[in-house]
Amino acid sequence: MLRSLSVIVVALLWYYLSSRIQVPNMAPIKNVAVIGGSGNVGKAIVQELLAAGFVVTALTRSSSSSTFPDGVKVKKVDYESIDSLKEAFGGQDVVVSAIATPAVQGQKTIIDAAIAAGVKRFIPSEFGINTRITGGTAIGKILSGKVAIVDYLDEKSKSNPEVTWTGVSTGLFFDWGLDNIASVDFDNKTVRVVDSGNEKFQASNLKYIGKAVASILKHPDQTANKYLSVASFNVSHNEIIKVVEELTGTTFTVDRVDSEELQKLGEEKLSKGDFSAFLPLLQRWNFADGKGHAVKPGDSADELLELPKDDLKESIRAWLTKNGRL
Ligand SMILES: NC(=O)c1ccc[n+]([C@@H]2O[C@H](COP(=O)([O-])OP(=O)(O)OC[C@H]3O[C@@H](n4cnc5c(N)ncnc54)[C@H](OP(=O)(O)O)[C@@H]3O)[C@@H](O)[C@H]2O)c1
Ligand SMILES: *[C@@H]1O[C@H](CO)[C@@H](O)[C@H](O)[C@H]1NC(C)=O
Ligand SMILES: *[C@@H]1O[C@H](CO)[C@@H](O)[C@H](O)[C@H]1NC(C)=O
Repeated sequence: MLRSLSVIVVALLWYYLSSRIQVPNMAPIKNVAVIGGSGNVGKAIVQELLAAGFVVTALTRSSSSSTFPDGVKVKKVDYESIDSLKEAFGGQDVVVSAIATPAVQGQKTIIDAAIAAGVKRFIPSEFGINTRITGGTAIGKILSGKVAIVDYLDEKSKSNPEVTWTGVSTGLFFDWGLDNIASVDFDNKTVRVVDSGNEKFQASNLKYIGKAVASILKHPDQTANKYLSVASFNVSHNEIIKVVEELTGTTFTVDRVDSEELQKLGEEKLSKGDFSAFLPLLQRWNFADGKGHAVKPGDSADELLELPKDDLKESIRAWLTKNGRL
């Protein structure tokens, strides 16, 4: 009796202690270095990091004429020099990279320098389709630089538990890219639609992406070593067109594109080493019937990150107003 009681007590004590030991393993984050903070998505990330109270340092190339908002410390760096980067990363808890697409491969040196400087979290320049599921596809070949960087971070975090990373898939930049996403020709009152136009895809407003990054850094333990998907919307072409028609009072004629043609065009270009293959391949990836690249149930980090909901109609209204269509 006493013996089994003591077994239970020991078991409970062990359970209690082990559950205490696992939480939390990362100190609150304060100092954040941003790479590419002058870019399309980088600007929104810097803005939301400042709004969330982080101390932001923007790294920029010495050749660059980029400017940054008040309150941001600016450091000129040479992205090819480990020493220059290490120096810039001194005292930083986190590095967020929103570096331009052609420069994503150079993040390997940046990661090495960040680790050497004692940075605890690295967010690589992903911010697009979920590159983790592009293996063996034509578009995956174009995105292989991004894939290799996430693989590299994963490797580093396994050999050194002090090093953590978070990848963020956002789908298409919605407000930034609506000209291309919606493909509306207002003069001719036509709209270009891939297949049926009913396929739902993942898309995020820039501000939403900025908020997602800030929230990740407010939830360092839950987001460690994870590849997360966020979305302002899972939306179809036809849903977008319906809102455009409603707001403008115009009816558009549909100019339909076959997704197989997009694939053929993309593969042809790619076989010639022409990376303009990306656009048709991206359109097929997102818009083709049956692709299923909206965020899947259970895959969304929107709730974990407590992100406020964006409104489709208001986002489209802002775009139409900006373009003088309303
Ligand atoms: N989902 C989508 O629809 C979508 C659309 C566009 C981009 N993206 C992705 O989002 C990420 C950021 O793209 P972005 O369009 O925001 O970037 P961007 O505006 O093209 O560039 C961001 C910054 O990177 C720096 N930069 C430019 N060229 C560089 C180079 N060769 N070497 C080093 N730094 C360079 C510049 O900063 P400084 O001048 O200050 O150094 C620039 O302001 C990329 O991963 C991209 O693939 C996604
Ligand atoms: C759209 O209209 C313009 C003239 O307003 C014309 O030049 C152009 O070829 C048209 N485009 C298409 C795709 O029909
Ligand atoms: C997108 O769809 C997924 C799966 O149903 C869901 O978890 C997520 O919340 C959706 N996101 C939005 C913004 O509707």
